[in-house]
Amino acid sequence: METPRDRDRAELLGPDVTITVCPDGPLLVRGPAELIDGAGVPLPRHRNTVALCRCGRSGIAPYCDGTHKKRRITGAAET
Ligand code: FES
Repeated sequence: METPRDRDRAELLGPDVTITVCPDGPLLVRGPAELIDGAGVPLPRHRNTVALCRCGRSGIAPYCDGTHKKRRITGAAET
């Protein structure tokens, strides 16, 4: 249960989880977000920051493996 102190901390420090859309690249998830696959199974996570593929070409999906550099993607939609 969230306490007033938790709310004060969140206001001071900002959100615990941020998702950054990288231009022409993955989504960077920073913070303690739980990653879950389409079947509801938690995905392994070993770092505080995780790069999620959004180009659909990664060999280690759902994580980014850098393959996006061979294909141009921008903003929220692919081109
Ligand atoms: S976004 Fe990096 S491999 Fe797809």
